[in-house]
Amino acid sequence: MSDAKVSPEFINACRLADVPINGSLKVDLDGTAVAIVRTAEGVFAIRDACSHADVLLSEGEVDGCTIECWLHGSQFDLRTGAPLTLPAVVAVPVYEVRLSGEGEDTVVEVAASPTDISATSQAATEKR
Ligand code: FES
Repeated sequence: MSDAKVSPEFINACRLADVPINGSLKVDLDGTAVAIVRTAEGVFAIRDACSHADVLLSEGEVDGCTIECWLHGSQFDLRTGAPLTLPAVVAVPVYEVRLSGEGEDTVVEVAASPTDISATSQAATEKR
């Protein structure tokens, strides 16, 4: 049997320029709300729903590679979706991200399916 991985299908999510630095943008990917988050370490995609009480994570604060739920303060690792602080105890799905194009035309593309969190998560690194 082959160990070759199947490449996920990617969906155009938004223009990179529309995502604030150290902030997030809520997008709809085929009916699923996803927060596109731009940090100094890259661009991430995480389902836009806290696992504690289903409020929008895109309205929370970004700090390094984390996003904090505005309601009760749980922080989630943007690379894995894992909760780092209580009260949330369940991970939020994250998605592989890749960037295409250059400069102002750079587009954020997001995998159509969440990342297997047992695998290494990736952030798309901006070209400087
Ligand atoms: S709703 Fe997010 S931590 Fe409670």
